[in-house]
Parts: sequence; C-alpha cells; structure tokens
Amino acid sequence: MESSRPIGVFDSGIGGLTVYRSIAKQLPQYDYIYLGDNGRAPYGNRSFKTIHEYTWECVQWMFNQGCPLVILACNTASAKALRTIQQQDLPNSPYTHKRVLGVIRPTAEVIGEYTNSNQIGVLGTKGTIQSNSYLIEIEKFFPDVKVYQQACPLWVPLIENGEYNKPGADYYVQQYLDEIMSQSAHIDTLLLACTHYPLLQDKIKTHLPADVNVVAQGDIVAVSLADYLQRHPDIEEKLTRNQDRRFFTTTDDTEDFDKHASLFTDDEVKSTYVSMKQ
Ligand code: DGL
Repeated sequence: MESSRPIGVFDSGIGGLTVYRSIAKQLPQYDYIYLGDNGRAPYGNRSFKTIHEYTWECVQWMFNQGCPLVILACNTASAKALRTIQQQDLPNSPYTHKRVLGVIRPTAEVIGEYTNSNQIGVLGTKGTIQSNSYLIEIEKFFPDVKVYQQACPLWVPLIENGEYNKPGADYYVQQYLDEIMSQSAHIDTLLLACTHYPLLQDKIKTHLPADVNVVAQGDIVAVSLADYLQRHPDIEEKLTRNQDRRFFTTTDDTEDFDKHASLFTDDEVKSTYVSMKQ
C-alpha cells in the first residue's frame, strides 16, 4: 500500500480548523492530517522560546506522519516560530526536503484590497500583536495602508471553553472592539488575525457598524496554498490523493475536541490523542 503523504495543518487548538476547512474545500483531492496542541493551548500569552519549542516539536511529529508540507494555521506560531523553523531548524534537521508555511504573509499580501479608507484594524493574540508581524508585512505590500492593532487575550479562552456563543461573551467582544475602533474613526476593515476568532464573527458583527468589513483568513490562506502548490510541483507531486482526513490532539479529552471540532468542519471528526513531551 502506498504510504500516506498528507498536507499537515497545525494549530495550538481547535481554531486552525477554520483554516483547514477552507483549504480542504479548495483542495479536496489531497490527504490531510490536523494536529491541535490543545493540551498546551492557549499559546497566545506564552514566551517566544516556548511557542517555538512546542511548534517545532509538533511540526516534526507531523513530518514523521509523512507530511511533505505543514501549514502553521496558527497566527501566534506563524509570528513567533515560523522564521526560526524555516531558517534554522529545517536546514539543520533530517527534514531539509520538507516545507513549513505560515498564514501571516499570504494574508498581508491581499488584506489591503479589502479597505477603501486605507485603515485596517488587526485583532490577534498578545503574541501576534506584540510581534508586530502584521504591521511589518502589510507595510511591505501596502505602504499606504495604516494598520491599528489590538490584542484580545480573553477571546481564545472563551472559545476553547465553549463560551463563545453565550451572552457573557458579548462583554469581552465589545470591550476589545471599543479599544480598536477608538484608535481611528476611519477603520473600515477588521482582520481576524487569530484562527479562533471566526467563531466569534457573528457576535463581532453585531457590535460594529454595518459598513465595517470583518475578514477571516481561511479562504485567503486556501487560495494562496493552491497557488503555492502550482508553483512548487516538487512538493505537490509528493502529496497523496486519497481524500483521507485524520485529526489528532494533545488533549486526552478527545470527545471534547470532537464536539467542538464538529462546529468547524463538515467532516466527521474522530480525533486521536497524541502525547508530546513537555
Ligand atoms: N489560534 C492561534 C492563533 O491563530 C492562537 C490561539 C492561542 O492563543 O493558542 O493565533
């Protein structure tokens, strides 16, 4: 039997399933494995060193499952770990022929097309916002666009704990939206720069003027990946195409993962527990 060489999609938890859903819809022919590091989430408030260590560990695990390519669906991991993995870890590892991609650059490449006022608000975890990655990357592609940023540290815990559609969540949604919208009256586009936030999208919209665009990243990343695979046939040819989907999590409560994951994907999720060393 041909051994499986799936596309790997990694996130600190369940949020990356919003990106996985878009990718698997755009490119249904391939095999996929998803790994959520729920056992150690949230990553958002952790140090650079820890996020890098956890992310590289998970990436290597996915390589060992046969993935020629891993997508860091997590913005925090993309902001804090991707560069070190690409520039230092991969070249000095047994995996030099494999690739790791993130979500920040593909988003920065197109986000300027969503704004008329040239003013964008970026909402993310503390780690993503403090890294200034979006500020730096958007400036490269859209130098005329002014970027405002706001960390929303309480949103991921609300989502990971299944509180995101309860009335109590409105208080925290309102609080961070007030903070960002008070930075400028001309922000017409808000980027949800955390894979978890699309779960709050309906609530977010009810707390904003109707003419503010709320942009989630899934479809942007999916289109960019399709383009990448066209430009890199050496990687594309390695991928197996049996439409096989497998889900892994580092929490031993796989039932809880499956319950929440079913909100993100039409596939039936039956995850498998995998242990990472601490
Ligand atoms: N889903 C991750 C992101 O996109 C962050 C969640 C976390 O804090 O673990 O940034």
